[in-house]
Amino acid sequence: MVDRKRIAVFFFLCAALLSGCRSMTLQQGLPDKESKFVVRTDERSIETGRLLFALKCSRCHDPYSTDRVFGPGLKGILKRAVLPVSQKPATPANIARQIRHPFYEMPAIQELSDDDILDIIAFLNTT
Ligand code: HEC
Repeated sequence: MVDRKRIAVFFFLCAALLSGCRSMTLQQGLPDKESKFVVRTDERSIETGRLLFALKCSRCHDPYSTDRVFGPGLKGILKRAVLPVSQKPATPANIARQIRHPFYEMPAIQELSDDDILDIIAFLNTT
């Protein structure tokens, strides 16, 4: 009986440890500091980002022009000096932040993982 309890506790601790590690790596995925942000340039990330953008962003944003849909057009967003509405520097970290903690009218999009956001930025880097 005691052994069974010990085994249960052992598994519980393992599970807790594993989920702790997972959330740590997820947090590390989206760097806060500009200097640590590496924009992905591989085809697979860009392609995934294109699909995710079509699913999650394109009803409000045109990635291929600067015309407004509901939100501003995002063509060449990473080549601009500032973001169109907030006028914050147009950096990958600020775009990532906009998705989770939007500046104004845009709804926060919480269901995207850090990985998804990095792929969307990889795609936006190509328009
Ligand atoms: C329901 C409509 C809607 C969706 C969906 C949406 N946006 Fe927006 N977005 C807006 C609006 C409106 C603004 C204008 C600024 C604001 O309200 O924050 C905006 C602003 C922005 C800006 C400029 C922010 C600034 O600081 O000027 C970026 C970059 C952006 N969105 C990226 C995205 C990305 C990437 C997605 C998909 C993951 C997305 N948006 C999904 C409506 C939307």
